[in-house]
Amino acid sequence: MKKLLVLGTFIVAGFAYSNCAMCHNGGMAKKLDSMTSAEIVKKMKEYKAGQGNPMMVNIAKGMSDKEIEEAAKKFGKK
Ligand code: HEC
Repeated sequence: MKKLLVLGTFIVAGFAYSNCAMCHNGGMAKKLDSMTSAEIVKKMKEYKAGQGNPMMVNIAKGMSDKEIEEAAKKFGKK
């Protein structure tokens, strides 16, 4: 059971970038589709540079620029 929990944590951390909606549509943070993808990319680059909410800084640092752009496209305003 303990092993499963540890594994679960790794999976969540590793796939956080494909699961932006987990927090952002779950009520913990604002909905990403209220921002354009360009706004999201700009914000994510600030987080990647270490500015702002530490939770997002961690997530952004684990992502490549390409992943950020893909996530922004996927979750931003259509
Ligand atoms: C573990 C929860 C969590 C995950 C997963 C998460 N975020 Fe966030 N995000 C937050 C929190 C908390 C904030 C800070 C809200 C604040 O400062 O008011 C935030 C803020 C942001 C902001 C700034 C919003 C604003 O008000 O300017 C953007 C953009 C953003 N996140 C994008 C993303 C993207 C893109 C992903 C997926 C790659 C993602 N987030 C995944 C929790 C999360």
